[in-house]
Amino acid sequence: MSASDTLSQPAPRPPMVKGLPLIGSTLEMAKNPARFFVRCYHDYGPAFRVRVFGNTLTVIAGAEAATFMGTREGKESLRSKEAWEPLMQEFGASKMLTAEDGDLHKQLRTVMKRGFSKDSIKGRYNEILKITEESLLRDWLPGNEVGVVQAMQYLVVDQLGSVLTGSVPRAYVKDIRTTILYILNVLVTRQRPKFLMHLPEYKRAKKRMFELGRQMVADYHARPGDTPDEFKTLIDDVMEAHQNDPALIPDSDLVMLMTSPYVAGLDTVANTTAAIVYTVLKHPDVLKRVHEEVDALFAKGPVNEETFMKDLPVLNGAIMETMRLYPIAVAQIRTAAKDFVFQGYQIKEGEMIYLGTSVPHFLEEFYPNPDTFDVDRYSKERAEHMQIGSYSPYGRGHHTCLGKSLAEVLLAMTMAEVFYKLDFELESPHYVLKTKTAPTPGPAMNFKVRVKGYRH
Ligand code: HEM
Repeated sequence: MSASDTLSQPAPRPPMVKGLPLIGSTLEMAKNPARFFVRCYHDYGPAFRVRVFGNTLTVIAGAEAATFMGTREGKESLRSKEAWEPLMQEFGASKMLTAEDGDLHKQLRTVMKRGFSKDSIKGRYNEILKITEESLLRDWLPGNEVGVVQAMQYLVVDQLGSVLTGSVPRAYVKDIRTTILYILNVLVTRQRPKFLMHLPEYKRAKKRMFELGRQMVADYHARPGDTPDEFKTLIDDVMEAHQNDPALIPDSDLVMLMTSPYVAGLDTVANTTAAIVYTVLKHPDVLKRVHEEVDALFAKGPVNEETFMKDLPVLNGAIMETMRLYPIAVAQIRTAAKDFVFQGYQIKEGEMIYLGTSVPHFLEEFYPNPDTFDVDRYSKERAEHMQIGSYSPYGRGHHTCLGKSLAEVLLAMTMAEVFYKLDFELESPHYVLKTKTAPTPGPAMNFKVRVKGYRH
């Protein structure tokens, strides 16, 4: 075959993963999507197709996929609209950050950047610690067995409510959680059938979530005078942008935008913090080192902006290691915006694509003994996560988590306070975490710890 013949050959389609008759790989993927993608990556390489839930999905995975997302070619080849459009329609909104690409995406990101970043909590670290402590004293009572994910959900609403929106809607936690559960399961990840959206449980929760969003708008209008810059929240930024440019942020989009911190932050942070409780309690040597670190930190008195990221290498190592092993975003969902070739395989315009950016988290070539919980991987000397494409808990490319800087510091603060304050243990030292996969992967809702007392 001549070189020109080779050039004119179309690239092959990604191989089809062998599955069971009729259901394909549905069961294996539903059980543990992260491990399923790793298995397929080992067996088939960085591009493959899987039959799940009656559909064929194209998956591109590994460091190759993570790197691709950050390139110009990746940006031009991948589109977000289809994945998130049903959510947008459900909220009656005209556009949303996660569903847009290009200039409109940039404009929306600019409006929300400050409010979602760690700048939004500048100078408020001691206040947030207090909120965290109060939440622990309320929901983690000595002598009780505490459901960790749910307790963390309340804690996160306390924190995000005060920091990002200026009010704490504890009474709405269940409604927010139910709405997110149905929307993500049915409309975004499409792991559950559409008829579920007609169930009274969902309809009631959605109505309450809308009530919350409208109340937040009303509260903003009821506030007297100009809020000084240092007290402005995401809500102020969104409302000001709405007033200055109603074409960009029309009335119809406000409810979705007001409640967006919860949609983006509630399950992500609650699941991650719950997983950190498990990994650290499961490793007494790490727990001991974390105790030494947080006790020394709080013995010094009030904390400042730098403290949590610089003075807690073991705790931050435990957080990063947990996010490696229990990523809440196993894959990102996109649509092929055009025909393109990835790693020698033909991807066709309009195909739904899963980008398995968490696959490298489990590869020996990046993380020796990948199943071992090793909090020192992230030290300056080892920096295993700095290898290209190896670590993507916050996603990749232009949709990378806008709340990343805020999430990093909130995670460190929350876990510092949790391990400083609580004397608690797993049901048994042999307990092995059960996980759920829908809507967001994380510890199962029945994961419990026993609170023995308070350390301080
Ligand atoms: C453990 C904590 C968190 C993790 C692991 C996480 C992870 C992610 C990931 C993977 C994405 C990209 C999704 C995609 O590309 O399709 C994302 C996007 C986003 N996250 Fe987070 N997130 C976390 C917490 C938060 C918090 C606390 C907020 C704010 C309250 C937030 C706000 C956002 C926003 C606004 C986007 C959309 C960005 C865009 O489309 O341009 N996240 N997050």
